[in-house]
Amino acid sequence: MARKNIVVFTGAGVSADSGIATFRDADGLWANYKIEEVCTPEALKNNRAKVIEFYNMRRRESLSKQPNEGHIAIAKMEEWAEVIVITQNVDNLHERAGSKNVLHLHGELMKLRSERDSNLIYDIEDGWEQSLDARAEDGALLRPHIVFFGESVPMFDPACRIVQDADVLIVVGTSLAVYPAAMLVRYAKSGVPIYVVDPGNPDTSIIRNNPLTHIKARAAEGMPELVERLKAEMK
Ligand code: OAD
Repeated sequence: MARKNIVVFTGAGVSADSGIATFRDADGLWANYKIEEVCTPEALKNNRAKVIEFYNMRRRESLSKQPNEGHIAIAKMEEWAEVIVITQNVDNLHERAGSKNVLHLHGELMKLRSERDSNLIYDIEDGWEQSLDARAEDGALLRPHIVFFGESVPMFDPACRIVQDADVLIVVGTSLAVYPAAMLVRYAKSGVPIYVVDPGNPDTSIIRNNPLTHIKARAAEGMPELVERLKAEMK
């Protein structure tokens, strides 16, 4: 039988079991920081030090954490299916768990880019700290390679095309509260099964033309179970 296309759309919840706080849960990041002070183009312009410091802390934290059973189960599906991960997360735990095809919708912590030319993107090779005055080769200051609120999401269109080709869509650990990202679930062909793995209550009301199964479990628990189930069905 031909290998199926499985698309996995993840949010902060998939990294929660690795010890990284989500955004909108009770102890989430947005309970402790104001979005407009750390995650907007205006914040970068008016309060650069605070924004850089915020992402330095996120980078330092993510480097100290390890992929969990959820990330690992997702990566292991590549043994028997074509798997593409579309993540809203800026950490690299999917890659470190072994996933080969990962599209980051909201940018990547381990990259910086020129404030002037968004095509000048650099990997951070060493450590976690972006110094305030680091510059790109075009002379402009560097900024975190993160999609701030109010900025466009350049990877959204490629992500839509990937979801359109899915035979199965798995949605893990996202509140489906942030747009356009949440809209991705609407691009699944009608009838394609959608599995949501999340211990909370993400806004699944936008899923209308697809059979929906909500597995109310943590990623580290629910993902390995779901993967076994799909493997048995598809092999
Ligand atoms: P949210 O914090 O909005 O949602 C986290 C989701 O994870 C919720 O539905 C929780 O129920 C669920 N969750 C909590 N613990 C979990 C666990 N152990 N296993 C599985 N799920 C769990 O995070 P996102 O939906 O990712 O954007 O947020 C979307 C975007 O908003 C982020 O990419 C970020 C943020 O502001 C930017 O910074 C641009």
